[in-house]
Amino acid sequence: MMKLGMFLEGSGHHVAAWRDPDVDPNGRQTLAHYLDIARTAECGKFDLLFMADTNATFGADDVDSWTRTTQASRLEPITLLGAIAAVTERIGLVATATTTYFEPFHVARFFASLDQISGGRAGWNLVTSLAVAEAYNFGRETHPHHGDRYVRAREFAKVVLGLWDSWEDGAVIADKQNGVYFDRSKLHFLNHKGKHFAVRGPLTVHRSPQGHPVIVQAGQSDDGRDLAGETAEVTFTVQQELEAGRAFYADIKRRAAAHGRPPGAIKVMPGVMTVIGRTRTEAAEKYERLQALLSPELAIKDLSSQFGFDLSTYPLDGPVPDPRTDLEQRGRVKVMVDLARRENLTIRQLYKRVYGQRGHRVVIGTATEVADALELWFRGGAADGFNLMPLTFPRGLEDIVDLLIPELQRRGLFRKEYEGKTLRENLGLPIPENRWVVERTQKDAG
Ligand SMILES: Cc1cc2nc3c(=O)[nH]c(=O)nc-3n(C[C@H](O)[C@H](O)[C@H](O)COP(=O)(O)O)c2cc1C
Repeated sequence: MMKLGMFLEGSGHHVAAWRDPDVDPNGRQTLAHYLDIARTAECGKFDLLFMADTNATFGADDVDSWTRTTQASRLEPITLLGAIAAVTERIGLVATATTTYFEPFHVARFFASLDQISGGRAGWNLVTSLAVAEAYNFGRETHPHHGDRYVRAREFAKVVLGLWDSWEDGAVIADKQNGVYFDRSKLHFLNHKGKHFAVRGPLTVHRSPQGHPVIVQAGQSDDGRDLAGETAEVTFTVQQELEAGRAFYADIKRRAAAHGRPPGAIKVMPGVMTVIGRTRTEAAEKYERLQALLSPELAIKDLSSQFGFDLSTYPLDGPVPDPRTDLEQRGRVKVMVDLARRENLTIRQLYKRVYGQRGHRVVIGTATEVADALELWFRGGAADGFNLMPLTFPRGLEDIVDLLIPELQRRGLFRKEYEGKTLRENLGLPIPENRWVVERTQKDAG
């Protein structure tokens, strides 16, 4: 079965979504808006809700540009997903947290808590941070280099995983008679000392019903894919085209195998912006309505910040120049440049293809046509599922749940009922064994 994520994003995934006549532009700051989305997504039997995050505004770096987008303000995802946990029962809750600016103890504790209060539905999207400006909010003058960020990310993940094993299952005995709350032999100190972190532990949250939160990752570079192969259980990606999608899929499974992990241990879920109508014309009109609101000036600024130099001096209808080679977001920019080269796009054509949907693949059509496009990738060895990105909220999500999901179910590609209560059960991922239990079992056997 296909795995489906619902990527939450304020008013919708198109950069102009907040200007759509059907959208309440203030909704994105209210709890009611997200609860409504979460309930609808759970009715649609989505595996998970996903929230991206940055700790600074990113994109073009001038405040005048920000005033024309919704980018400068967003709710903090772990807090929001905590509230959503209270009104949902089955859907997974995946939030983003950066390894570049946070401390592993914080991240381990936040996500372990979300996992407990949701009954085992939490996931951590491990990122090394896209927004260079995050540095200025954490006492730094510069954003660490790409390679350095991944060195820290590796150690960070190791510490978080170690902390999540602090408590064995069944550690709490709550023996009222003798006044013993937990079994000392089932609590473990980590005592980690590495290049970036010194963390004694133990974590102050018990082991959750799914062992520990699911680890999600979305790096596209070599370092990013390596880290995914080693630790991630879900990986989001930005491929636009089937062959590139297949190559990415095979590469991730190969890297996982190099770490002794079976192919099913990591689910590859490309992001897809869906635009669904009852007819193809209706769908195309929805998309074009928002495309017409794109500002060429903002689009060029955004593209320039991604390419690493000012593109406004280049002819809009001329060829796309090569980006800088020392870029921070090299993986995502490569996907864009490959698209431009493959289809011989001009700068204007490129921004029209990528800016509105923030670099993700877009599929426009009837539910049947969108289901065909997803099925092709799913059966074609390019995806285990998809992270769906509605054009607008809530209308675009309602189109998915009312039209697309029944079509996928009819084809036997998507569940009609949740398989289990935890995110791992629904994704078909095993419950990770606690390292201390494994060690003890091996000792006993040996
Ligand atoms: C689908 C997707 C979602 C992402 N979400 C975030 C995010 O919310 N916050 C962030 O800082 N980076 C995000 N990233 C960035 C990556 O996780 C990664 O840190 C960045 O792309 C640099 O690594 P790379 O060069 O390996 O791609 C996302 C990337 C992708 C492809």
